[in-house]
Order: sequence, then C-alpha cells, then structure tokens
Amino acid sequence: MNMNIRIAAMTFCLSVLCAFSSYGQSIDWIKKAKEAVEAAIPEAEKDPTRPLFHFRPPAQWMNDICGTIYYNGYYHAFYQYNPFSGDSWGDDYTLWAHARSKDLTYWEDLPWSFIPMKEQGERRCNSGSIALDGNGQPTILYTFVPEGKNVTQLGKREQWAVAPLDDDLIEWKRVGNDPVMAAGMNGIPSSINGGWSDPFVFKSNERTFVTFKESNGLVCEAMNKELTKWKFVGNMDGVIGECPNFFPLDDKWVLIRSTKPISYVVGDFDSKNISFNQSGSDGILDYGFGDNPPTDRSWTRGLYATNVFTDEIGRTIMLGWINGFKANRGWNGCMSLPRVLTLDVKKRLIQTPVHELKQLRNEHHTIKRMVLNSKEKKLEGIRGDMLEIITEFELGSAKAFGLKIRQSDDGKEYIPIRYDGEVLDVAGTKVTLDLPEGKLKLQVFIDKSVMEVFINDGVTSVSRVEYPGENNLGISVFAENGDVILSSFDAWNLKSIW
Ligand code: FRU
Repeated sequence: MNMNIRIAAMTFCLSVLCAFSSYGQSIDWIKKAKEAVEAAIPEAEKDPTRPLFHFRPPAQWMNDICGTIYYNGYYHAFYQYNPFSGDSWGDDYTLWAHARSKDLTYWEDLPWSFIPMKEQGERRCNSGSIALDGNGQPTILYTFVPEGKNVTQLGKREQWAVAPLDDDLIEWKRVGNDPVMAAGMNGIPSSINGGWSDPFVFKSNERTFVTFKESNGLVCEAMNKELTKWKFVGNMDGVIGECPNFFPLDDKWVLIRSTKPISYVVGDFDSKNISFNQSGSDGILDYGFGDNPPTDRSWTRGLYATNVFTDEIGRTIMLGWINGFKANRGWNGCMSLPRVLTLDVKKRLIQTPVHELKQLRNEHHTIKRMVLNSKEKKLEGIRGDMLEIITEFELGSAKAFGLKIRQSDDGKEYIPIRYDGEVLDVAGTKVTLDLPEGKLKLQVFIDKSVMEVFINDGVTSVSRVEYPGENNLGISVFAENGDVILSSFDAWNLKSIW
C-alpha cells in the first residue's frame, strides 16, 4: 500500500468512528462495517482494471449518486454505499457515503454521512437529494426503507430529513425522530406504492417541491423554511423509472429518469397546476444501461442513478453511477465524469464533460487530416488504457468506418466504435444516428475498464464497462468499402487522480 493510500485508509477508519459517535449508533455495527471495508482494500488496490481518473470509494460496493451540491467552496457528491458487500447492492445496510472536490476532477473520500438506524427498524437508507432550505442550510431528504422481507409493502416507506452539524458537511444528524413524509400524512395516499423512494427536491417561483420514483409522479410541497413539513399537492406526468431529477434549464424544465437506458424529457412546469408538459425534445441520455446484464455480471453496464445540481457559476452539472463491473475484485461501481448539461436550439439535452478534466491531460498526440480508403490504419505511438480522444470523421462512400480502441498488437482484438450509415455501435451498444451534416464527432474517455463516449458534441452518450486484454493498448481508424475523411484526431494520455 503506498503512503498516501495508507494515510487515506487510516483517516477513513478513524473518521467513521468519529462521525457516528454523536449518534449513539451501535459501535459494533460500525466496527464490523469498517473491518469489512479494510479487508477488501488490498483486493481492490491490486485490481489492474480499476479506473484511475474516475472517483470510487476505497473498496466495496457503491451505487447511486444520491445527493449533489456546491457548498462552502466544495463540490459534494453523496453516494449509496454498502460496506459489507463487494459485488452487489446487498439490499441491507446501504448507507450514505460522501466525497468532495474543489475542481470536479480530484476527489476526497470522506466519512460516511449517515447509516440505517437499525434500532428503529431501518433496513437501509435509499437515495434522495440535497437542497438548501429557506435559511440557506443544506438539507438531505432520503427514503427510510423498513426492515422485513416484504420491503415493498404498500405505504411502508418514509421520507426523512437530515441536516449537517458543520459547514464542511462532514457530520449529519436526522432532523427530529420522525419522518417528514409518510403514507397518510398531509394528503399523501395511505396506500402509496411500496417502491416510493428517491425524493428529488426542486424549486419554482419561490416554492419548494419534491417528486419521487414509483409514486405516480407524486409531488409534495414544503410548508416551512426548514423543509421538515410537507403536503401533497399533485401528480406530475412523465416521472417513470428510478431516481427522477427535475430541474430548470434556460427557459425550460428537464426531467431525467433512470429508465433502462436512462432517458430525459424537456418541457414546461406549471407550478400552479403542478403539471409538466413536454415542449422540447426527449431521448436517451446514455445508451449504456440496458435491460440484460452480461452473463458474467449481476448488473447491466452503464450510466444510471444520476443527480443534478447547479454550481456557483450557474452550470447545471450531472453526476451518475457507472456500474456493471465483474465480481470478486474488492470494489464495484464508480462515479461518472461530471457532465455539464445545456439545451441546444432544438431543445435537446446536451452533455459536455466539465472543462476542469483538461488538467488530467498529459502527452498530446495529433493526426493530420487524411483520407481512409477501404483500409485500417494503426495510429503508431498512441497507446494507452487511460486516454481521452477527440476525433471527427466526414462521411464519404465508405459502408462503415470508425475507431478500434484497446487493440491488441496483432490487431485481432479490440473494442469497436463503428458507424454503418445508420447505427453507431459502441462496444456492442447500438445507437441509431442521423448525420444530416455528414460528420461524426466523438469524444472518448478510456479509463481501464470504463469507457464514456460522447457523440456529436454530447447530443447523446454511451458509457460502458469493458474488459479488454491488459496489454491491448493500441488504436486504429478504419474505413470499409469506400472512403471517409478523418478530419481531425487528438488524443491525450490522462493522469491518475489518486
Ligand atoms: C437505484 C436505486 C434507487 C434506490 C437505491 C437503493 O439504483 O434502486 O431507486 O433508492 O438504488 O440503493
């Protein structure tokens, strides 16, 4: 273990104990969790496929990004974490973990923020969101999942509020001893769906609302500044899937839903009638997360469970969970690269990796404009498993063209990114694409087993988890049956953030 990691691990263990001392939580429970994480760290560290410029916890399982905020000089990302489980969500014990960053590139893992109150029958702490209350104080809203096999029983889940005890948002405490929303309370149906979860807070016209997954688009409104009293105000169309994110962007509202794959709708929100009507585009945000997990994995692979927030300079930023890693590696799951969200003239949602990531760029390689005619060209001197590539093709007569990345020296093994005039195939994920301007632009991040591919300036994306041979580090460009112009190609070897 190198020195930095040893120090980080020690700090992590100490801080876990410190952060919970004020809760009166069972030290036994935490001790076991801490031991499980410590035991998994060496395994995680020796895995050569673990990403190095994506954030992930020191070991064990992470899933959703469940709360994001820019506050007091830091970007904060809270995520679902299971300390006992290396390879699956585990259902039980999921807690809220915390990381922060000054620049959305280098992240620091922090003590867990809060854990299930086992003594109060809480099985796990589900996702939610974080928002500023009427006094400018951050508040987390999350879903309390009760113990019991039948955790999806109607009307059993509750929504709780949690408040920080310090300005660095390190220590958190539940607000009061009761839920702030529950079945039958203030107009919330008593037969609310058993999957009711993932409260996402949004503000419109000085009013604060919240919507959820699996509750028929239920919307509640805050009745006090502290966000601890809520009442039912209506139901909103379009809220399907999990982890809804609902936020204003320019003069529109955007609803992102964790469907399979993850999707979005652009529209207008009417806060008087609590209605959301589509008036812009809709589409797939990222094609990576499909319905069928590969046979060697328990989860499909790609981007899911996002969380959107606005930073101090007004950027709308999205973070998400990348999943679909193989089992038995001591860790599982990472955070996506932060993406800035904008709307284009057609009111489509555009995703752009934050500019801060440019600081990771090392050696720069560039290839001059060239015509590829029914051939494959290996790009000598550009190699790596931590790379950023920005390239543009101008369509010609070729039946298909594209890139081969992580290519073996004999050229036989590779990950394809191939366009055939209709469909862009990214490592097997198929994206139907119209290219009216006759150009295909790709921005590709490769980080060991993780790939994030932004298509045509971020009009859509594909995030994937792939396991090419460790020594497959080459890149080729190719055209099949005709020609294509490679109008630009830039690549950078990227640095590790650890
Ligand atoms: C999405 C999700 C959420 C839930 C959380 C539990 O991945 O199922 O809906 O709150 O995971 O960890």
